[in-house]
Order: sequence, then structure tokens, then C-alpha cells
Amino acid sequence: MGEVTLTIDGRQVTVPAGTSVLEAATQAGVKIPTLCYLEEINEIGSCRLCVVEIEGARTLAASCVTPAAQGMVVHTNTKQVREARRAVLELIISNHPFECLTCVRSGSCELQALAESLGIREIRFEGAKSHHSVDESTPSIVRDPDKCILCRRCVAVCEQVQGVSAINVSGRGFNSVVGPAGELPLNDVACTLCGQCVLVCPTGALSEVDSTREVWKALADPKKQVVV
Ligand code: SF4
Ligand code: SF4
Ligand code: FES
Repeated sequence: MGEVTLTIDGRQVTVPAGTSVLEAATQAGVKIPTLCYLEEINEIGSCRLCVVEIEGARTLAASCVTPAAQGMVVHTNTKQVREARRAVLELIISNHPFECLTCVRSGSCELQALAESLGIREIRFEGAKSHHSVDESTPSIVRDPDKCILCRRCVAVCEQVQGVSAINVSGRGFNSVVGPAGELPLNDVACTLCGQCVLVCPTGALSEVDSTREVWKALADPKKQVVV
């Protein structure tokens, strides 16, 4: 396989043919924001946070699924690109609970970090919000579908890395939900509780069970002995 040389934000970079613009940008030291992308596991181009401007192209391109080409000239931070990313993020947030103060993922949430880095201070879009119950059926994983942004990273890792396929996307459009088929509790399906989905989830939609309160309660119980 040959190589291609392209220019990204004025930096020339040479990569193997077939490399995505996103990967070429990373190699050139140019950071492009992503949300649904998970290297070699989930490269589906669905969130469109990673859009870039390519000279001569009629529309913005999702850099994670656009192959680099010889002589391509890419701009990753133009006004049009910034506005498109802001609109995409505002649309995602418009169907997301505003619970950052109490969310288990606050401080390590990719959605929160992106909103901060893109300077989102208001949401221009208003509409219905999804409402699903929290799934606390398993001893170790909590699913909070209202915080799901449908990036499918968990679905891909469960299927392709773990070979389990315990979760998938069901429903369509606004009614789409990621979880076990038939909206069954996670404990009722083939899930092995490996936790890989929790690791790759960019938001608080999948998290580990937090037993801190029970531990404090047990520590304060004079009838219990603490063994360290
Ligand atoms: S815990 Fe493992 S098996 Fe269960 S849904 Fe997540 S990735 Fe799949
Ligand atoms: S649960 Fe998390 S990883 Fe899975 S689709 Fe939703 S946001 Fe993405
Ligand atoms: S990161 Fe490229 S489309 Fe989501």
C-alpha cells in the first residue's frame, strides 16, 4: 500500500493510504474533537463532532471516516467548522439531562468537556426529552439511558472486543435506546459484567455501582468489625 501526503492546518503530513483524515491530523499534531469514534472499534461517523473543511469539497466531512488523499488540503478550525460542531453538540445536549452537579461522571465526562471546550453557554434548541428508567439490576453496572448520546461505543466493544453482544440499539430516531434487546434489565441477558462498556462510555449513561455510602454506614456500625 502506498503513501499519501496532505496538508492539515498548514502542516504537511505523509500517511499510509487508507488512513483517515482524523488519524492523519493526530499524526500531524492537530487535535480534532470526537465523540463516537473509538479507534479500530467504532468508526461509524455518526456524531459528526469531528467535521472538517476539505478544499474543493461541497460539504463538511466527518474526519474519522474520510480517507486521507494525495494533495488534500484540510482545515480543522474554520468558522464554518466551529459553528457546525457547536450546532451538533447543542442538539445532543438538548436531549440530555442537566445533572452535571450530581452526575457520577462529572469531571471525567467527554460531553461535559466538549461543551466546555466549544464554549457552549446556551442551548438554542428546545424539544421533548427522552425518559427511561435507570437499570440497577446488576451488582456492578448501572445504566442510565437518559444520559446516553447513542454513540454506540458500548455496543461495538461488547460485540467486537468481548464477543458477547449483550446490548444493541433498538427503536428509531428519537425513540432509539441502547441496551439489552426488548428493554430487558441487564441482569436478565447474557452480559458477563466485564465492564468494558462502562470504560468506553463517554457520559454517565453507563457507570459502576457506587457502594461508598454502604461502606461508610458499615464503618460507623459499632456491631461490625473492620478488618484492614
Ligand atoms: S458489561 Fe461487558 S458483556 Fe455486559 S454489556 Fe458491557 S461489554 Fe457487554
Ligand atoms: S451507553 Fe454510553 S457508550 Fe453506549 S451508546 Fe450510550 S453514551 Fe454511547
Ligand atoms: S467522531 Fe467522527 S463522526 Fe463521531
